[in-house]
Amino acid sequence: MIRVNENYLKLKASYLFSDIAKRVSEFEKKNPDKEIIRLGIGDVTLPLPPACIVAFHKAVDDMASEKTFRGYGPEQGYDFLREKIAEFDYRSRGTTISADEIFVSDGAKCDTGNIQELFADEIVIAVPDPVYPVYVDTNVMAGRTGENRDDRYQGLVYLDSTESNGFVPDLPGEKVDLIYLCFPNNPTGAIATKEDLAKWVRYARDNRALILYDAAYESFIRDDSIPRTIYEIDGADEVALEFRSFSKTAGFTGTRCAFTVVPKKCRVYTEKGEEVPLHQLWLRRQTTKFNGVSYPVQRAAEAVYSDEGRKQVRELGDYYLENAANIRNGMSTIGFSCSGGVNSPYIWINGGRDSWAFFDMLLEKACVVCTPGSGFGKCGQGYVRISAFNSHENVERALDRIAKAIK
Ligand code: MLT
Repeated sequence: MIRVNENYLKLKASYLFSDIAKRVSEFEKKNPDKEIIRLGIGDVTLPLPPACIVAFHKAVDDMASEKTFRGYGPEQGYDFLREKIAEFDYRSRGTTISADEIFVSDGAKCDTGNIQELFADEIVIAVPDPVYPVYVDTNVMAGRTGENRDDRYQGLVYLDSTESNGFVPDLPGEKVDLIYLCFPNNPTGAIATKEDLAKWVRYARDNRALILYDAAYESFIRDDSIPRTIYEIDGADEVALEFRSFSKTAGFTGTRCAFTVVPKKCRVYTEKGEEVPLHQLWLRRQTTKFNGVSYPVQRAAEAVYSDEGRKQVRELGDYYLENAANIRNGMSTIGFSCSGGVNSPYIWINGGRDSWAFFDMLLEKACVVCTPGSGFGKCGQGYVRISAFNSHENVERALDRIAKAIK
């Protein structure tokens, strides 16, 4: 008899964004004449930067000739891309991350989901609430939690991120082994200062814990006092992995390219307390289960770091940040309390009612899609997330429609 992994049966029926897509498609079927504006899932709308397109085309041409054709590439990514990442994302910020500590992949979602297979089943895991659902669901799938009761999985330590702590969670009251952090935060748009991160790094060092730091939205940071990478904090390279993505930075949501930093100094421990370098485990995992990102895509990602690429990527970010500022101002003017949207493409709005009720109201009365905060956890109840990824025109129209719907 083929038995099911019963951990899957503990999961909510569907992934948050699939749930939303289903509701929106039902609404569309019933209202074929209504035009919907999507400010829900954080999917970019502007095309790839021209520098990336040129490099992409050229790399496709390379594949057309026997002399320049590439077959299997290194599972960890081509050196040409890893070197650029190390130089521009890490050395330029005064950190010592080197190219061979960078693992190129097809997405931060996959990496944050896959990395947990390197850890023991019994570890204690802390997740912020609200949280990007992938961190939680992948641990549920792996059997590291009990059942979901009252919107929380038994066995996980939830770190409340609320208005009272500025949506930056406090250290846990109990000892935890693995900590997920994401800044600029998805979904709240909150930012962590150097002091905030230093506190977590100190905790991890004192408790032989590990931080999984999701920095997928770092390219929206404009304030230079805010850390762009956790490795700006002394000692972080011993206790933190960092996940980055070209998706939001350079419009790669459909193209797929990301990377994970696994510093060589980072270690995990056997039951007896012996140290094991995490780098060698992740290398082993990736070389076994992953065959790398395609050559043309890595060439396109490399172009992000060229002079024109860096300028174009900055402009892309500025475009969405202008939307974020307008959404924040627009929703505040209508009377909602908002946070995020500065150094971040997400605006977190206190809707003053059930999150899904607010979602349904916006969909039905304004034909605008947002993301219900409760889908990110119990502390998200009452909130919705509006994403800045759309055109200026659509954001303006959406705000207009919302203002009318609220009246
Ligand atoms: C989101 O909307 O939270 C993100 O687009 C999800 C993702 O990047 O996977």
